[in-house]
Amino acid sequence: MKKKLEIVKQNVIKCIKCDLCKTRTNSVPGKGNFQSNVIFVGEAPGKNEDKTGEPFIGIAGKKLTIALEEAGITRDEVYITNIVKCRPPNNRVPSNIERNTCQEYLKEEISIIKPKIICILGNTAFNSILGGSEITKFRGKVARKNNLLYFITIHPAATIYNQKLVGVLKEDIIKLFNLIRELKNDKDITVDIEYTS
Ligand code: URA
Ligand code: SF4
Repeated sequence: MKKKLEIVKQNVIKCIKCDLCKTRTNSVPGKGNFQSNVIFVGEAPGKNEDKTGEPFIGIAGKKLTIALEEAGITRDEVYITNIVKCRPPNNRVPSNIERNTCQEYLKEEISIIKPKIICILGNTAFNSILGGSEITKFRGKVARKNNLLYFITIHPAATIYNQKLVGVLKEDIIKLFNLIRELKNDKDITVDIEYTS
């Protein structure tokens, strides 16, 4: 399993499948525990991530780390990745072509790790994975699509300039890990949104 994930990582590092490869410094493969019960999915690498090749290590990453710690979880217990693995110039939102081209890697990460649930961080991931929008309406909810469970929450970067959202993210992450505990005990959890296709 670890080996398979390493192959995905190497393929991401050398990937030239979309135009983002032309402007990146480093690709940013997913990182973390290959046996994690949850995969966190953000939008795209930012400046710090592009520089180092590691996901969520800038300010947004710090916010995520703090929210996890408040739920009693450390970063190395979980797996963290993004919709696209290379930084879009000036941190623009990745295009549909870029997202669709890169999604093969996310699919592989999911099929190798087989998490109990996938945590969607913010609108770009919500839109790319579930076709959703208006994250603030749907945050805190559980969705199921093609036999995979998703937990929807805000992007940690949204908490940087909005103090109110710090509590929202914290509350959601605590709920997420309570759900994971129930899933580990084979309990049924409430699914708020069912996707039929
Ligand atoms: N924002 C993201 O969505 N992903 C990162 O890796 C860093 C910031
Ligand atoms: Fe490849 Fe994804 Fe980077 Fe595009 S964003 S070059 S598809 S790894």
